[in-house]
Amino acid sequence: MNDKTNSLDAFWMPFTANRQFKAAPRILTEAKGMYYKADDGREILDGTAGLWCCNAGHSREQITEAVSRQIAKLDYAPPFQMGHPLPFELAERLTQHSPEGLNRVFFTNSGSESVDTALKIAIAYHRLRGQGTRQRLVGREKGYHGVGFGGISVGGLVNNRKFFGSLLNGVDHLPHTLNIKANAFTKGLPENGAELANELENIVALHDASCIAAVIVEPFAGSAGVVLPPEGYLKRLREICTKHGILLIFDEVISGYGRIGDAFAANRFGVKPDIITTAKGLTNGAIPMGAVFVSDDIYNTFMDGPEGIELFHGYTYSGHPVAAAAGLATLDIYEQEGLFSRALELESYWQEAVHSLKGEPNIIDIRNIGLVAGIEFAPSEAGVGKRGYEVFLNCFEQGCLVRATGDIIAMSPPLIIEKPQIDRLVESIAKAARAVS
Ligand SMILES: Cc1ncc(COP(=O)(O)O)c(C=O)c1O
Repeated sequence: MNDKTNSLDAFWMPFTANRQFKAAPRILTEAKGMYYKADDGREILDGTAGLWCCNAGHSREQITEAVSRQIAKLDYAPPFQMGHPLPFELAERLTQHSPEGLNRVFFTNSGSESVDTALKIAIAYHRLRGQGTRQRLVGREKGYHGVGFGGISVGGLVNNRKFFGSLLNGVDHLPHTLNIKANAFTKGLPENGAELANELENIVALHDASCIAAVIVEPFAGSAGVVLPPEGYLKRLREICTKHGILLIFDEVISGYGRIGDAFAANRFGVKPDIITTAKGLTNGAIPMGAVFVSDDIYNTFMDGPEGIELFHGYTYSGHPVAAAAGLATLDIYEQEGLFSRALELESYWQEAVHSLKGEPNIIDIRNIGLVAGIEFAPSEAGVGKRGYEVFLNCFEQGCLVRATGDIIAMSPPLIIEKPQIDRLVESIAKAARAVS
């Protein structure tokens, strides 16, 4: 038998150009605070909080210790018809930060599972209220809601959809809100485009409200390359949903846990959905876990139903003890270090820093909110996405991790970032823009 232990062959990497990567791998071996260490010993400044998840920075001792303690004490307990203390405690603690009235928490293991859970709860809720015709779902173009069949059906990214057949029936999409022509280089939320929410009225006119269960949107789209809601857009969406009895789901898998200066984007934007999906920052990325926040009205509807199991849904690892321990320790850090408001404190510095890139070669738009930025490059003649990828590679060579989505560079650093580190990230993009032009 060959010794293949050092081979890169067997692992089919997710959302990765496997052949390209395996020919020139980028391997991270350690992480602490704001930095990764690569296998060549270089320190890499993390401009992406891993994948929008390590909001408190890397390898935090409080989390490591809580996880070690818990795995030694209770490694696993079945969550169906049995309980253990930690998910109860974590749910109570989390609801101290969720919007008023969203006081019930269903645990999952990922953002994708949170989304599919939310969609199922929405449809089942209407059925329990005698409105079983409300089955249609509305997503949005450019939306990313993970990779389950529910998530890709309501999602609006063509490559995530086109390979996978006919998807769920009964899904419509709102138009996306990216309008570079009208809003390029806006600092914060764009002024133009709130009326795009009115498209929901057309969808209602087409199908009738009695057929529509829920609308799901990210408060701002992250994976599509940082697409922000125009001023007033989310409020308008809320009004139309309320008017027609349609549930509004905010997918806060990346906007949750402090990313834009509040525990939830719903709080920052002052718009209350009926359901919020989360994951990622919930455990600081250390252990997989997701959480779906549900309004009291929805929860009570299930509890008023027939005796017995109220929702035929759940995962072997829902509320896993080790994940819940990581979640509690993470929440301690967020609270002790004031990290839910830190993005707001740094926002104007961040904004000025990223907008200083205006005028660098091929940059056609810069978008920002909280500690998030999207820097959009014009596609090169070599094809869409090539320039973005080159900029990403160049930044990595300079010791900075940023993320390329097509020709957009997205940044979402850990919330513990310091101003000189912001400067360094921005400088690396400026240098990369010049180098690859
Ligand atoms: C808004 C949103 N929803 C869902 C997901 C899926 O999360 P996961 O990869 O944990 O399944 C993501 C992941 O980036 C996301 O950004």
